[in-house]
Amino acid sequence: MAVTISPSILNCDIANLASEIKKIRNADYAHVDVMDNHFVPNLSWGLPVVEAVIRENILPVDAHLMIEDADRYAPAYAEAGCASVTFHAEAAIAPIRLAREIRAQGAKVGMALRPATDITPYIDLLSELDMLLVMTVEPGFGGQAFLESMMGKVRRARKAISAANLQVALQVDGGINRETITKAAEAGADVFVAGSAVYKADDAFNEVEQLRQIANHHINH
Ligand code: DX5
Ligand code: ZN
Repeated sequence: MAVTISPSILNCDIANLASEIKKIRNADYAHVDVMDNHFVPNLSWGLPVVEAVIRENILPVDAHLMIEDADRYAPAYAEAGCASVTFHAEAAIAPIRLAREIRAQGAKVGMALRPATDITPYIDLLSELDMLLVMTVEPGFGGQAFLESMMGKVRRARKAISAANLQVALQVDGGINRETITKAAEAGADVFVAGSAVYKADDAFNEVEQLRQIANHHINH
């Protein structure tokens, strides 16, 4: 399976969104973090900004919804044209119904787990998903340190996906850089979100390429 690189634009120069996204045109997706100040203690942007990014048509949008009441608000992101919509397991009352609604709009569907959320209760849901996101920081902010303690969860998730013979992608998000991407790839992740590592680099395009090469070298499934 190929490596997928999805840089987070959360901490890019947001007054110049289009040119910032053009810098990472060699990535597979633009990872767009939606925060509502309730599910996480930070507010980023909502549907109108995501729609504007989609209209620019530079990269497919990988929306990461850190919002409460995902059942109510997530389907609109799929309808708007996001290529992938990820809701949090902790914020969904009916994750299977929600996953089906998102897919019915033609988007891929992802489900995210906060660091303290165990994967065990969700193993039987994997067949409803295109992607599982194991958070490697507490969601809410870019620039935090990678939680190596999440690698057990990544390994368990990869095992469960393989055991069920599924094609579910396994995303990690938070503190991913040239060092930590190796650990996450070895644990079984294949979709990598990196925010500050890409946008703080002198050359974001080159950093995407470097991360892709390192991950390709260490991918383990
Ligand atoms: C954190 C967001 C991440 C964040 C990643 O809640 O979900 O996508 O922007 O940023 P870095 O790579 O700096 O941890
Ligand atoms: Zn994210």
